[in-house]
Amino acid sequence: QTELIHTFNGIPFSTRVSKELLQSLDTFEAREDDVLLVSYPKSGTHWLTEIMRNLYHSHNEDNGVSKVTLTSPLEFGDLSKFDELRNLPNKRLIPTHLNYEMIPVQFKTKKCKMIYVIRNPKDTAVSLYHYYKQNPNLPKIEKWSTFLEMFLKGEVVCGSWIDHVLSWEKSKTDENVLVLYYESLKEDLPKYVKEISTFLGINVTEEQVKDISKKSSFSEMKEKAEKEKVNPNHTVCVLTSNKKLIFRKGTVGDWKNHFTSKQNARFDELFNEKINSSELARRVEYES
Ligand code: A3P
Repeated sequence: QTELIHTFNGIPFSTRVSKELLQSLDTFEAREDDVLLVSYPKSGTHWLTEIMRNLYHSHNEDNGVSKVTLTSPLEFGDLSKFDELRNLPNKRLIPTHLNYEMIPVQFKTKKCKMIYVIRNPKDTAVSLYHYYKQNPNLPKIEKWSTFLEMFLKGEVVCGSWIDHVLSWEKSKTDENVLVLYYESLKEDLPKYVKEISTFLGINVTEEQVKDISKKSSFSEMKEKAEKEKVNPNHTVCVLTSNKKLIFRKGTVGDWKNHFTSKQNARFDELFNEKINSSELARRVEYES
């Protein structure tokens, strides 16, 4: 088996993310109108890209929004990626799983808009477990209990969930950063489609909000993914271009079908103190 994971700055990354790219992140030239979509894996990245893509497509010619390209993740591939993005004439919507420290400095100094989406860590762990089981780009995992231990120790791709959220804590008062929760979107999607449109400065009608909410529902996205041919150049998640691996259940609370009460107690024991110390993590909900 070829190497699937390498470690950089103590964090496990897919080998689809090159070390030289990670070393050069701070040389990345951001543009003021770039939009970053940031997440820990399995937090709803594809969902958000669908909402944002539809929002940009729904605009009228006269509201001044330029053409937008959803690029592959910032950290995906090797250094040639930076040239590729430099040569892109359109406004760039860039997904990434990087923690706040690793985000190229120019995105911060130029105050680019960034959306950070958070999902409750128990459902995130379950979703990532199934991803490990099905995704050939991730190491083989046999048992849930083994995986949960890896997750708790931060020995999974992108490292510890709580460290990722804690790193973004620093940005929580920045006006250019919008923090969203997977569970809130599940509860009232139209409300957040509107909030995202306001944040991005896109005018949409009530009708368009309704239409976008429908198009980005789990069932419609899953159905579309099943019909779509896999295109290796269309990558939202570093770990796969195969969207069929993404739409599993799309619910809140699936963790209850996986965690034993002992595992739940261990999770709370290891995570709760840090979660309570973080304003962003504290707001996480476990069921709708
Ligand atoms: P599950 O494995 O729990 O089903 P990411 O896009 O960051 O890889 O996250 C994938 C998770 O988001 C999967 O969770 C997937 O089903 C869920 N998801 C994707 N689109 C969704 C949607 N439109 N509504 C709700 N959940 C969605």
